[in-house]
Amino acid sequence: TKKITNICCIGAGYVGGPTMAVIAQKCTHIKVTVVDLNKQRIADWNDADLDRLPIYEPGLADVVAEARGRNLFFSTDVDQAIAEAQMIFISVNTPTKTYGVGKGMAADLKYIELCARQIAKVSKDDKIIVEKSTLPVRTAEALRTILTSTGNGVKFDILSSPEFLAEGTAVQDLMNPDRFLIGGEQTESGEVAVQALVDIYLNWVPRENIITTRVWSSELSKLTANAFLAQRVSSINAISALCEKTGADVDEISRAIGADSRIGAKFLKSSVGFGGSCFQKDILNLVYLCQHFNLPEVADYWEQVIKMNDYQKHRFAKNIIDSLFNTVSGKKIAFLGWAFKKDTNDTRESAAIYVADELLQDRAEIHIYDPKVSKEQIFADLCRCEEERRDNLFDEVAKETYCDFLKKQVVVHLDPYTAMQAAHAIAILTEWDEFKTYDWKKVYGDVLKPAFIFDGRNILDKKQLSDIGFEVECIGKR
Ligand code: NAI
Repeated sequence: TKKITNICCIGAGYVGGPTMAVIAQKCTHIKVTVVDLNKQRIADWNDADLDRLPIYEPGLADVVAEARGRNLFFSTDVDQAIAEAQMIFISVNTPTKTYGVGKGMAADLKYIELCARQIAKVSKDDKIIVEKSTLPVRTAEALRTILTSTGNGVKFDILSSPEFLAEGTAVQDLMNPDRFLIGGEQTESGEVAVQALVDIYLNWVPRENIITTRVWSSELSKLTANAFLAQRVSSINAISALCEKTGADVDEISRAIGADSRIGAKFLKSSVGFGGSCFQKDILNLVYLCQHFNLPEVADYWEQVIKMNDYQKHRFAKNIIDSLFNTVSGKKIAFLGWAFKKDTNDTRESAAIYVADELLQDRAEIHIYDPKVSKEQIFADLCRCEEERRDNLFDEVAKETYCDFLKKQVVVHLDPYTAMQAAHAIAILTEWDEFKTYDWKKVYGDVLKPAFIFDGRNILDKKQLSDIGFEVECIGKR
């Protein structure tokens, strides 16, 4: 067996930060160093003011407060952390490729490759490398090729241990995981490496919740898990469209089918569509793999999950425009929520971005309030949307013109009531709990009539709002 006392994690993002904070909290005998090229991010992780950590997750600040400076460190000195560590986690980003072969589909592995090259260059003794990032199946092989190509005699064992945490509940998920997964090679040193990681997780997770598999199964399990989760959302959203036509109620259907233990009650909430950095990217990646291995039927099957999600976002935007007498030009639409889900400040692939973009194409004025997302982030998200539409052929002049347009049409508010003041319509894009507690009578007095609310998350009390006088439109209800 190999006892690990020094870990390095490359990538201090939504996965690297919380995972390593929890490992450090649970394993006081291990020194954990999280490194990143992004100096600002590291500075934020080291900020004395815990409200300014770069990532908002319930409970995270307490874990960081306990472990930071004791056995948890955040640093930009990547080389030193690699050199000292016996085990190196790679949790850098793996976005969808935006150029060249596999554009718009395949995972961009350039950051992973850079890590591997750096590890190969710096390492002087044997290391266990753990893939934490979500990777296409057989990436470990590519990693091994790069790592061993320097030929300086250092031995690398490669494990796959994909992360299943959900943003918004990351700390809870890490403390009490349904399972941790470790894929390793069926060789003697592979088994020693797997055991070394099992021993780390055993500090707080029962053995039966740690699943070990071969490397390829572990890599593909992560893509499969996200594809299944997203598919549930798209499936219930598909039914929501039918509910709106027939007068059935999608929430009643979710309750009725969720009671079947084979189906299960979780992840059956219909909404404006799923977002987040992972679902779409991972399914596209799965689709790309299927195409690559000449399995077009399998590829088409999974691609439909994304198409349904795009349809749901589009349907929501179109319903707003249709209800407001076929145009939102010059009308004030208040957005409550911008993050892709509640309890996170992450906006990647948030449905709000695409709904706003569609309304902006119709020249709406959008007034946004989100409890955790900054104004800069919102403008950056909308700008990126235009950039994608132009296929990255976005010169500086065009960018400035579009930014000027955005500055005229979009206002970000720090107070929800001013965001809704004199609005033609209110749209709920994120399921933040605080939205349920607003003084809706007061809001009703302040908005234009007819007073429309489009609840993209089905969180508000429809009856109460209708009684006040609102025209309430929910997902999957007539
Ligand atoms: P992120 O973008 O928040 O963080 C990645 C970090 O890696 C960035 O701060 C970046 O500066 C850094 N980085 C990139 N290349 C580097 C290099 N060569 N050296 C040092 N630092 C480098 O990404 P996030 O959300 O943490 O995701 C990471 C991986 O985990 C992805 O593969 C993702 O699919 C996967 N994942 C994400 C989950 C989530 O909820 N966000 C959940 C499960 C898996």
